[in-house]
Amino acid sequence: MKTQVAIIGAGPAGLFLGHLLKAEGIDCVVIERQTPDHVLSRIRAGVLEQVTVGLMERLGLDARLKAEGLVEGGFNLADGERLIRIDCQGLTGKTVVVYGQTEITRDLMEAAPSRGLEVIYGVGDVAVHDIESDAPYVTWTKDGSAGRIDARFIIGCDGFHGPSRKAIPASAAREFERVYPFGWLGILADVPPCHDELIYANHERGFALASMRSHTRSRYYIDVPLTEKVEDWSDDRLWDELAIRLGPDAAANMTRGPALEKSIAPLRSYVFEPMRHGSLLLCGDAAHIVPPTGAKGLNLAASDVHYACEALAGWFKRNDADAVAGYSERALARVWKSERFSWSLTKLMHRFPEDGPFERKMQVAELEYIASSVAAQAAIAENYVGLPV
Ligand code: FAD
Ligand code: DHB
Repeated sequence: MKTQVAIIGAGPAGLFLGHLLKAEGIDCVVIERQTPDHVLSRIRAGVLEQVTVGLMERLGLDARLKAEGLVEGGFNLADGERLIRIDCQGLTGKTVVVYGQTEITRDLMEAAPSRGLEVIYGVGDVAVHDIESDAPYVTWTKDGSAGRIDARFIIGCDGFHGPSRKAIPASAAREFERVYPFGWLGILADVPPCHDELIYANHERGFALASMRSHTRSRYYIDVPLTEKVEDWSDDRLWDELAIRLGPDAAANMTRGPALEKSIAPLRSYVFEPMRHGSLLLCGDAAHIVPPTGAKGLNLAASDVHYACEALAGWFKRNDADAVAGYSERALARVWKSERFSWSLTKLMHRFPEDGPFERKMQVAELEYIASSVAAQAAIAENYVGLPV
């Protein structure tokens, strides 16, 4: 098989890029290890920045997002005593939209056949070859037979554990990493949210987040040591802990219900530089991970894809080699700013095992400062709604 661009991974990054390239008249094929049902069963991000909403609009795939997404003008930081509201709309003129990653993926997946986007699911043994040449190719196996795509570019959208990043020689790369000593235990339940906006709480017992997917479906998280097992957290134990950490007002409005999904996600900050090596470009989690505080992971994948599409359109439609050459630098400039924001919000809202009374005082002082300073709120708001692409 021959195409212009081979995309590895049909998560949000790979599907967005496939659709955008097709819309530009650039040929591409997406290959994915899992089945469509498996991809849709992963419960992940829930808050979309304008950049992500904008990609859906540009593709004309935003009808369900517009109908079902919840537009949020602000969110709250809770310090155990009060809610500090960050008025994103008032301070930046921008909003975010609550619409699950699963729904974005479903919309992109379902539109693929009618847009002529070929996605091959259920492939194994994916390997990339000759990425330092002008004629790279990807090989895989499916149902016992071997497959191969020859392309001018390969785009690694295969998440943190995929093979693309690993194909770049260590001598050409640098990794930056911080692993956090806790994970987020999440619960999804068909109950109305406890508040009409998100609440990120720093309680003396630990972090909690009240989020939602709709007026009838809620998503909550608490942080737990990495040694904890999901099996140790009955629904009742988790609801009790959420009620304590989110505080009495939220607890009074919290409706409990059976978990549709419950899982623990580890927290990590990670950046791989550069995001291009020869004919291989990386997008999304394949190149970087942010801790989930701040809801940046999916949105960063979307901005990478925006830059990658511009670079590839420059190459194929305008003979502009500089666009591809500049991809990594352009994408990384935004990646590092989102890494900084996610890291600083993580530090502000979580108790670290090594922290003593001094670090606690620093958190209290920072939350006090944010509560009293419109300038501090504006800085948080402009990062939360998403920096410009
Ligand atoms: P992915 O969504 O990981 O997609 C990569 C795709 O590549 C997958 O479909 C995978 O099956 C496929 N793939 C992998 N290996 C191969 C291979 N060898 N061959 C072919 N295909 C392959 N972000 C938030 O903002 N909020 C959250 O609450 C949140 N929760 C998360 C929870 C978890 C457990 C994880 C892992 C991430 C979470 N994130 C969250 C981050 C967010 O979901 C990611 O940033 C986003 O999914 C990135 O999209 P992506 O397309 O780059 O990668
Ligand atoms: C959700 C996840 C996040 O990481 C976040 O910061 C906000 C919301 C969610 O899953 O709803």
